[in-house]
Amino acid sequence: MAKKVFIKTYGCQMNVYDSQRMADAMEAEGYELTDMAEGADLVVLNTCHIREKATEKTYSELGRLKPLAEAKAQSGSKMVIGVAGCVAQAEGEEIVRRQPLVDLVVGPQAYHRLPQLARRASEHNAAGLVETEFPAEDKFDHIPLAKRALGPTAFLTVQEGCDKFCAFCVVPYTRGAELSRPAEKLLREARELVARGVVEITLLGQNVNAYHGMGPDGREWSLARLLHALAEIDGLKRLRFTTSHPNDMSEDLIAAHGELEILMPYLHLPVQAGSDRILKAMNRKHSAAEYLSLIERIRKARPDLALSGDFIVGFPGEDDADFEQTMALVREVGYAQAYSFKYSARPGTPAAGNDQVPEEVKAARLAALQDLLNEQQARFNSRCVGQTMPILLEKPGREPGQLVGRSPYLQPVHLNAAAERVGEIVEVRIEQAMRNSLSGVEA
Ligand code: SAH
Ligand code: SF4
Ligand code: F3S
Repeated sequence: MAKKVFIKTYGCQMNVYDSQRMADAMEAEGYELTDMAEGADLVVLNTCHIREKATEKTYSELGRLKPLAEAKAQSGSKMVIGVAGCVAQAEGEEIVRRQPLVDLVVGPQAYHRLPQLARRASEHNAAGLVETEFPAEDKFDHIPLAKRALGPTAFLTVQEGCDKFCAFCVVPYTRGAELSRPAEKLLREARELVARGVVEITLLGQNVNAYHGMGPDGREWSLARLLHALAEIDGLKRLRFTTSHPNDMSEDLIAAHGELEILMPYLHLPVQAGSDRILKAMNRKHSAAEYLSLIERIRKARPDLALSGDFIVGFPGEDDADFEQTMALVREVGYAQAYSFKYSARPGTPAAGNDQVPEEVKAARLAALQDLLNEQQARFNSRCVGQTMPILLEKPGREPGQLVGRSPYLQPVHLNAAAERVGEIVEVRIEQAMRNSLSGVEA
C-alpha cells in the first residue's frame, strides 16, 4: 500500500503553492496525498510566522497530532511529523526543543530536500532533522509537476523573498533575499499548466512586482515583460499577480493594465497606513500622497480596476490622529476588498521593542477600520448587481447543481450550472450581492 502524506497549509498563497510542490515531490516518491492527518505516514505543517497568533497555531496543531502519532505507533508504523514554512525558518531547532514530537524541520528554500529528510526520519527513526539553509539552487527545479488532476486555476511563484525590511515584518528573515526565477522556466511551467487544463494563472511573490528574472533573450525581464509573454500562451485566459509593493509599480506594469485584456482588473496593493509619520517609521519608503497618485495613474490605465489592500493598526507610536489618516486614505481610495490586522510585535524585527499601543486601543481601531472596509466591500458588491460579467467556473457550490466561479474582480459568484462546466468562462447576470460574494444567472 502506498504511503500517505498529509499537508496542512497556513499563511499566504506562496505557502499554498509550496504545499502543492511538496505534494508533487512526495508523489514522485510514491506517496499518496490524503486530506486527513489520521493514519498518515508523513504529516507536514506548512506554517506562517507573520503574526504571533499564526505561530502559535503551529504549536497547538502539533499538540493535536500527538495522539494520532501515538495511535500510528501502536499500529506498528511511524507517523513522521515535519514542520515547514516560515516558523520552520524562524525557529529551527527551537521547534524540536519545544515539541519533541517533531521529526524534521524544513525551511521554505529547502523543499527539494523534503523527500530525503522524510526517508531518513522514517528509516532511522532519527529525531529532529533540521534543514534551514538557503541553498543556491532553485528549490523547485528538481520537482516534477505531479500527475494528479489540476483545477482551472493555478498559482505560479515567480519571485520569492524580500529586501524591503518593513520595520514590522518577518518575511525578509524567513524567506530570505529577493530572488526571481528565470522567465524561461516560468513560461515552461505555465505552458504545462495550461496543457493540463488551467485557464487562469496567478503569479505569486512576496514582492511580485519587483520581479526581474533572466529572460530567454539574456536580458532581465520585468513583471510587465513576463506578463506580455505569458499572455501569448494559447488557451490561457486570465492572469493575475500578487502581492505588489507600491514602490515597484513601474510604468510598464501600469501600462500593462491597459494593454493586456487577459490581465484581470484587480490589484492587491497594500499601503499599511495613511499617516506619513507612521509610513516612515514602518520603513515603507513612500508617502500617502504618493500612494494615492499611483492609484490614480493605474486607474487611468484601467478605469474599472478594483483595489484591495492590507492595513496594520496600532503600529508602535500610532496616535489617534495617525489612525484618522488611515481612515481618510481608505475613504479616498474606496477598496473592493481588504485585509486588516492589529500590529503584532515580532521577535527580531526593528519595531518590536518600541512604544507599544495598548491592546484595547488596537482593538477599537481595528473595529472602526473593518467597519469602514466592510461597508466599502458591500457597496462595491452591490454596484455589481444588474451587471453582466464573465465568470470563470471553478468548483462545486454549497447546494447541489450549483457552481462557484470568480468575477474579474475576484468575487466568488454562485450560480446554477452543471458540474462538467468547471473551467468554462460564462457570461453571468449578477442578481444578488452578499457581503463576500455574489449570485446570478447565466446571461
Ligand atoms: N509582501 C506583502 C505582504 C506580506 S505579509 C507586502 O509587502 O505587502 C501580509 C500582510 O501582513 C502585510 O501586508 C501586513 O499588512 C501584515 N503584517 C505583516 N507583519 C505584520 C505584523 N508584525 N503585525 C501585523 N500585521 C502584519
Ligand atoms: Fe514584509 Fe515589507 Fe517585504 Fe512586504 S515589503 S514582505 S511587508 S518587509
Ligand atoms: Fe506567513 Fe511566511 Fe507567507 S510568514 S504570510 S507564510 S511568507
